[in-house]
Amino acid sequence: MKKTKVLLPFILFLLVLVATRAQEQTPIPEVEELLGKMTLQEKIGQLNLVTPGGGIATGAVVSENVEAKIKAGQVGALFGIAGPEKIKKAQEYAVNETRLGIPLFFGSDIIHGYRTTFPIPLGLSSSWDMDLIGEVARISASEATADGINWNFSPMVDIARDPRWGRVAEGAGEDPYLGSAIAQAMVKGYQGADLTAANTMIACVKHFALYGAPEAGRDYNSVDMGRLKMYNQYLPPYKAAIDAGVASVMTSFNDVDGIPATGNKWLLTELLRNEWGFNGFVVSDYTSVGEMIEHGMGDMQQVSALALKAGLDMDMVSEGLLNTLEKSVDQDIVSEEEITNACRRILEAKYKLGLFEDPYRYINPKRAKKEILTQENRKTAREFAARSFVLLKNHNEILPLKKEAKIALVGPLADSRSNMLGTWSPTGKHELAVTIIEGFRNVAPKAKINYAKGSNIVDDKDYAKRINVFGQRIDIDKRSPEIMLREAIEAAEASDVVVTVVGEATEMSGESSSRTDISIPEEQKKLIRAMVATGKPVVLVLMSGRPLTIPEEFELPVSILQVWHPGIEAGNAIADVVFGDYNPSGKLTSTWPRNIGQIPIYHSMKRTGRPSSTPDAYEKFKSNYLDVSNAPLIPFGFGLSYTKFAYSDLKVSKNEIGFGEDLDVSVTVKNTGDMDGEEVVQLYLRDVVRSVTPPGKQLKGFKKIFLKKGETKRVTLTLRPDDLKFYNSSLEFVAEPGDFEVFVGTNSEKTLKTGFTLKK
Ligand code: NOJ
Repeated sequence: MKKTKVLLPFILFLLVLVATRAQEQTPIPEVEELLGKMTLQEKIGQLNLVTPGGGIATGAVVSENVEAKIKAGQVGALFGIAGPEKIKKAQEYAVNETRLGIPLFFGSDIIHGYRTTFPIPLGLSSSWDMDLIGEVARISASEATADGINWNFSPMVDIARDPRWGRVAEGAGEDPYLGSAIAQAMVKGYQGADLTAANTMIACVKHFALYGAPEAGRDYNSVDMGRLKMYNQYLPPYKAAIDAGVASVMTSFNDVDGIPATGNKWLLTELLRNEWGFNGFVVSDYTSVGEMIEHGMGDMQQVSALALKAGLDMDMVSEGLLNTLEKSVDQDIVSEEEITNACRRILEAKYKLGLFEDPYRYINPKRAKKEILTQENRKTAREFAARSFVLLKNHNEILPLKKEAKIALVGPLADSRSNMLGTWSPTGKHELAVTIIEGFRNVAPKAKINYAKGSNIVDDKDYAKRINVFGQRIDIDKRSPEIMLREAIEAAEASDVVVTVVGEATEMSGESSSRTDISIPEEQKKLIRAMVATGKPVVLVLMSGRPLTIPEEFELPVSILQVWHPGIEAGNAIADVVFGDYNPSGKLTSTWPRNIGQIPIYHSMKRTGRPSSTPDAYEKFKSNYLDVSNAPLIPFGFGLSYTKFAYSDLKVSKNEIGFGEDLDVSVTVKNTGDMDGEEVVQLYLRDVVRSVTPPGKQLKGFKKIFLKKGETKRVTLTLRPDDLKFYNSSLEFVAEPGDFEVFVGTNSEKTLKTGFTLKK
């Protein structure tokens, strides 16, 4: 007995040691040998990431003299170029014209598909379908690698609870549990089982960290967040990506605890490497090394040294490391060893990609011709887009429409090709996107379609100019708004039903596209009101890269289908759903607020010491508003179907469990409607009493099921020991004994309830 007591701590120590070791990269002989031959300058050169500016430049500068720099051994990797010829040329400069012939790798932003553009990530997340999301990543990797690219700046896993921030479009919404599952599916999809395979690529989880919580929802703004919120709410998806084996991490533009992420040693070394065991490489975001000067952290030499010492390995576009590190070594500010360590990680990535064996592994013009934008991939894009749509309302069950109907198809997005792909689609081809009117004609050739634009997206020319930076997204009509509106009214009067396609142009969300008013622009609202005033049944097809505030439209007698920005097959996919070839199954992954003043609003908010007893009635001295209810307009997890699902008989497998035990939660779901359909069964948990205040409830499980009409299924969701855990005030990941409430249902608010106890 005594012996065990003495031995136990030692055994535990050994276990911890083994676990930590397991995460460390074992030295790669080829890399070590190469490092032994490299000069200081050559090592520094590997830390430099440049773009010749062929793609989308997301900062004020692009790199200059790229060719000369590659030949001088001053470049470790390139991004923003594509295609076997260009990439081959760049690779030849590196391999044939530098002393050691170290190959480059090639990065790109393939955020929702390469040439085959899928829905924006926020849309994909609304499918709640991890196989689908993994498949999008796999197809993206296979098309991108066929074009010579082997490093992807994706997944973007920033938790976002402020829809004013335009980059909510790029992520998976508000929830860390769902966000973590999606992060893992994407990393596995891009990287596959073998990174040396010619159709897999290095993923890059971004933006580390907390980029999704900028003050006031303004892009690039400061973040100030306590550790508890970080650990419990914002960090899990990054960690999930690390656990899935992601090979690179991109830092964020914001500061974390007062230190910009790119120069934050706690973040990049203590947390990322020491605590989480990450052994890949860390790249800065675009010019974020140099931006630390504006942050007030010193001059270029100081901020570059700060970044390297913090744990940054590669500098995107600033060239701060390239131009100052030698001097910093001379002045003993940084050591050669620190530079060697960073260089080693870059070389290890090249090794993992198989580039030392064959620098031209990813350059294959035959593949580029055959494997990009295939009919099969387009077909998948169409199916997946339909699965990302969320039916928000189906007034009088007007949807699906009959394929022979007389339809007024109106709205500034109904015949707009350049707004279908959505933000961050520099590798996509807008001109190949299917418009909604084309989709309607393809799917319902017998329908009589009366088209009218009805309004501009916005009438304001200056605003349009800001949106049109990457091409014409808002085209302001030569005709007056009155004439356009009149035409739409006439189209409506000549039809049985009106489909009004409204919302945001592509660049109204995404990077540097924050809005303080996230409603539908007034010009389009007028069109909606006019369509309703005709007395015809009205369907709104709502396009956006973020949750919108739509309290007025939600109250109108209209049906609303939220379609995000659906990608290259937009029109076909929308028509598939509108005409009932696919029964919608998407669910919101962010809460939709009633107005801007409710932000931030999310399903897992804490209760406060003065919770209001009903969300709708104002109560003095309770935590509520004088002018608006506490309840969101549309809750997290919400989404309708053309059929109906009834939930009953919620049970837990045991009323009491011990630490480390699983618990099965089961519920009966019946399709009570007239169509086959899919449903996302959602499980939420509330820890009733614990040492730090718990969220009111939090997503802890989900399952997407298919039910034929009339079919009943018993669905079981398993709670694992980690699902009961949280970070306490000492930042230990623990479960605490006591009662838990379990909610299961069709969205975060409409649930059945049961519970169990975690025994001491
Ligand atoms: C800036 C963006 O923040 C980041 O997401 C992107 O990967 C880089 N630009 C490179 O294009």
